[in-house]
Amino acid sequence: MTQLKHAGGRKMLRILSRVSASSLQTQRNLNAAAVRRSLCCAASRSAPLCSGLAVNIMEPKLYRPPPEVRGMTLLDKEAFTRTITVPALRVPAGVLNKVVKSLRKSSIQRPGVPRVVQDEEGSSDFRLVLLDPHKVTSPNSFSEAEAEALRAFGVAQELQHYNLQLTYHNLKSEEVLEAVLPQGQDVTSSFSRVGHIAHMNLREHQLPYKNLIGQVIMDKNPGITCVVNKTNVIHSTYRNFKMEVLAGEENMVAKVKENGVTYEFDFSRVYWNPRLSTEHQRVVQLIKRGDTVFDVFAGVGPFAIPAARLGANVLANDLNPESYRWLQHNCKLGKVEKKVRTFNLDGRAFVQGPVKQELPALLKEKAAVHVVMNLPALALEFLDAFRGLLHQEPSCEENLPTVHCYGFSKEGDPETDVVKRASRSLGFPLENRCSVHFVRNVAPNKDMMCVRFTLPKEVLFSGDHEQTEPSEEPAPKRQKCEEAKDSM
Ligand SMILES: C[S@@+](CC[C@H](N)C(=O)[O-])C[C@H]1O[C@@H](n2cnc3c(N)ncnc32)[C@H](O)[C@@H]1O
Repeated sequence: MTQLKHAGGRKMLRILSRVSASSLQTQRNLNAAAVRRSLCCAASRSAPLCSGLAVNIMEPKLYRPPPEVRGMTLLDKEAFTRTITVPALRVPAGVLNKVVKSLRKSSIQRPGVPRVVQDEEGSSDFRLVLLDPHKVTSPNSFSEAEAEALRAFGVAQELQHYNLQLTYHNLKSEEVLEAVLPQGQDVTSSFSRVGHIAHMNLREHQLPYKNLIGQVIMDKNPGITCVVNKTNVIHSTYRNFKMEVLAGEENMVAKVKENGVTYEFDFSRVYWNPRLSTEHQRVVQLIKRGDTVFDVFAGVGPFAIPAARLGANVLANDLNPESYRWLQHNCKLGKVEKKVRTFNLDGRAFVQGPVKQELPALLKEKAAVHVVMNLPALALEFLDAFRGLLHQEPSCEENLPTVHCYGFSKEGDPETDVVKRASRSLGFPLENRCSVHFVRNVAPNKDMMCVRFTLPKEVLFSGDHEQTEPSEEPAPKRQKCEEAKDSM
């Protein structure tokens, strides 16, 4: 609870400036800046304590918690309590709302701190409007418009002292962490939100404070009831992170909404990345009712389910049994279980099984066929699965599948790089026959790209069942922290 106390000895403390309404009146014809200058001079002449306040309120970062909290590893919320002096204006209750509205830019804005308090030592006809001590240091701090409004509402521009007790609850998470963590070190407290879970990627120097950081993030973000930190490895196959609970409940089953669709899954056992929602939407927008979608690396369904909701027939696959289970669950949740057939196969086996089985009939139809391959660390290399997949060329080639294949690139020219790798995997040059979309930068010098192309009939019917030479770079088995971020 924020506790607010009017400063004792109001007579001693109260006045920064004493400018009567009449003196204001006499200066009406002066320009506003001159008026404010004179207010300031009057203040420094008539109120001996004003310089004290001025020094105090000029101090930047007034809201900074007491220095004793530095180095704290176990959160002691009481230790953050301190009293600061803030400027205030005595405002007649009758014009309070209008004045508060006019002073929006100058009034105090702190979590849990009211802008208006009782004037305990004054008449009950007045209230105190608390002002931001970083913005209002003297009566001439008000803007022209504010000064004008104060005059119009008959509010004397006399700054009062108000003793405000700030507690842990009135501090922002960055302020708490900045005060606790070693000085000069990065205190970035960013996280990804997945339902009720805040997902952090703490740096080495933050680890001694990890539980405190978790608690602060939970306290300061309504709806977050669990904070986890990625450990520095990513499961090589299923793309889920090992994670440690820093604060809150150990419930890893999250419920999220993306592009209007609700998903549920165990975040510790499947892949989910809130930063891919735009990409999911971009691809799904290309899909029409009656189309067929093969989602080779479907995860828990963020391409498959929206596509099915649009009326597409979907075959969705994931090797991770947990993803597969949640994919099925989400199909039911989204009421599309009749439109989505689910598989728990390796991507290559999915292409050479269900895809191979369905394609011949689909190639003769009009509705489009899409193949989505979102496993950026490896998908480009999986394209060889399409080589010589079918034996008999259809009479017309119009309905060849459109492939959306994702890849990471660390090259200076990521577009050329991913096209080259896709071409090598297919055994067919895609240059000038594909479009490349930049999805996002996942780490310094590492981009996620999407190559879109019509699967060439020369590949599909090549009779060449050989797979590409293994690429020079072996598939990463374990990725470091930085790369773990990549797949997010
Ligand atoms: C980067 S995630 C993408 C998931 C989902 N498409 C999305 O956009 O959120 C890749 C998915 O591929 C799955 N996966 C990894 N290796 C696989 C393989 N060899 N065959 C099929 N699925 C695989 C993982 O379990 C994971 O769910």
